[in-house]
Amino acid sequence: MTEVGAHSRDLVAACLPMGPSPKPLRIVPSTWIEHAPFAFWLVENHRPQIIVELGSHYGFSYFCFCQQVRQLKLPTRCFAVDTWKGDKHSGFYGDEVLEELKRYHDPIYGDFSRLTRATFDEALAEIEDGSVDLLHIDGRHEYEDVRHDFHSWQRKLSSRAIVLMHDTQVRQLDFGVLRFWQEISQGRPHFEFQHGYGLGVLGEGKDFSTIEFPLFEAGRDPAATAAIRKAYARRGSRMHSLARRLTPAWLRKMVWRIAPALVLKVKWRIRVGEAC
Ligand SMILES: C[S@@+](CC[C@H](N)C(=O)[O-])C[C@H]1O[C@@H](n2cnc3c(N)ncnc32)[C@H](O)[C@@H]1O
Repeated sequence: MTEVGAHSRDLVAACLPMGPSPKPLRIVPSTWIEHAPFAFWLVENHRPQIIVELGSHYGFSYFCFCQQVRQLKLPTRCFAVDTWKGDKHSGFYGDEVLEELKRYHDPIYGDFSRLTRATFDEALAEIEDGSVDLLHIDGRHEYEDVRHDFHSWQRKLSSRAIVLMHDTQVRQLDFGVLRFWQEISQGRPHFEFQHGYGLGVLGEGKDFSTIEFPLFEAGRDPAATAAIRKAYARRGSRMHSLARRLTPAWLRKMVWRIAPALVLKVKWRIRVGEAC
């Protein structure tokens, strides 16, 4: 086991939330569930002016960012970009996904966030160059896709930009995030979570200071890296069990489990009432 010295311990403390992580207000099917605690921490500690997400689908990751922006009353503006048609990795779907997303999103986040229905390339025209402090790339996952998405959006990044890439640990089919992550993270400030299919965190802005953002210093310290990964994996797995529990299937199961006991209780009360 790696020994955690005093400096590493300080780094770990600086990269973890002080108390329990908030619960995501909206739980929808997503392979991103386990990264919710990090998303909340990141928004709080990085305080991005502009967040862009490439690939939102049901909106799990995007709503974690929005939830924290709202909770902390940050002056952040958020943009979700998706065709809301699906792709060969996520599967294809119909207009009902975006319609449902808008019904939830517009009343609570519509004042600072926009759902942009477009391809990632089309949406480039909507965002000012050099303005994005947090870019989350989570579209189609072939090597050429991720590479293209990163390089085409690179000019949009601010001097303190962080780029997130999901699925850096997926080693199946034609997923190529792992390969691209290995290339792009070389020589740049970075940290990688290995749970939840892998999430790469890249300090791409030219002014990035590891003092202001200790996660990247932690990324160079094996003991701190291991401790931070473990702590977020633990928090993430709690999030995952919560998400599993809150699915309609789980709620149906619970109703069926509780129903017989409730019926018995009501019958017993009626009998006791009749006897009195
Ligand atoms: C993996 S899902 C996003 C998951 C989401 N971030 C979450 O938290 O669950 C990928 C999404 O990217 C979208 N997508 C893929 N390639 C795209 C492109 N070039 N332009 C716009 N949308 C794209 C798909 O429609 C799909 O909804």
